[in-house]
Amino acid sequence: MKKGKIGVLLSGRGSNFKAILEKVKKGEIKAEIVVVISDNKGAKGLEIARENGIEAIFVNLKEFNSREEYDREIVRILKERGVDLVILAGYMKIIGAEFVSSFRNRIMNIHPALLPSFPGLHAQRKAVKYGVRYSGCTVHFVDEKMDHGPIILQAVVPVYQDDTEETLSERILREEHRIFPEAVKLFFDGRLEIRGRKVFIK
Ligand code: GRF
Repeated sequence: MKKGKIGVLLSGRGSNFKAILEKVKKGEIKAEIVVVISDNKGAKGLEIARENGIEAIFVNLKEFNSREEYDREIVRILKERGVDLVILAGYMKIIGAEFVSSFRNRIMNIHPALLPSFPGLHAQRKAVKYGVRYSGCTVHFVDEKMDHGPIILQAVVPVYQDDTEETLSERILREEHRIFPEAVKLFFDGRLEIRGRKVFIK
């Protein structure tokens, strides 16, 4: 069988990308990571890609006239490499509608909260401030609205009274590194079926 192809978009340290890469290397995820793209030239994630012999591309938003054009260039790069699944691993840009429809049900994102709670930036800070007893992380397919698409997996962690944004982020990140690779594995095992807002695991 033909191996699946993954394209990763990231803006920063790339620890989720690394967790997925480990499972790819072990052969647990039946796919290869063919390209890592970033809007941030200095992203640690690009470095990790290069160290692992994966093509790493910086796409400079400033070189484009609009967000749409910038998105089109990223879609072009992904299509050219035959990418089957796009992974947003700490990608700090919003994906436009055209991008979403080019990869309908083939873009995954991880969010550090139990969606639909605390979408957007600083989810862990918001959870600590709100006083919730539990938070966690969510892997979901990406649709036109931010942090909104069908949910694939979630993991729950407790939130303690003396937690700070940092301590909670660390606890959540450990779970991110567990469920993101798991969701990607399920995708390439052909076990995810989307029906409306729901994702069934076959
Ligand atoms: C993670 O907390 C993820 O949930 C959020 O951005 C962060 C990325 O971290 N979307 P890393 O770059 O994968 O280490």
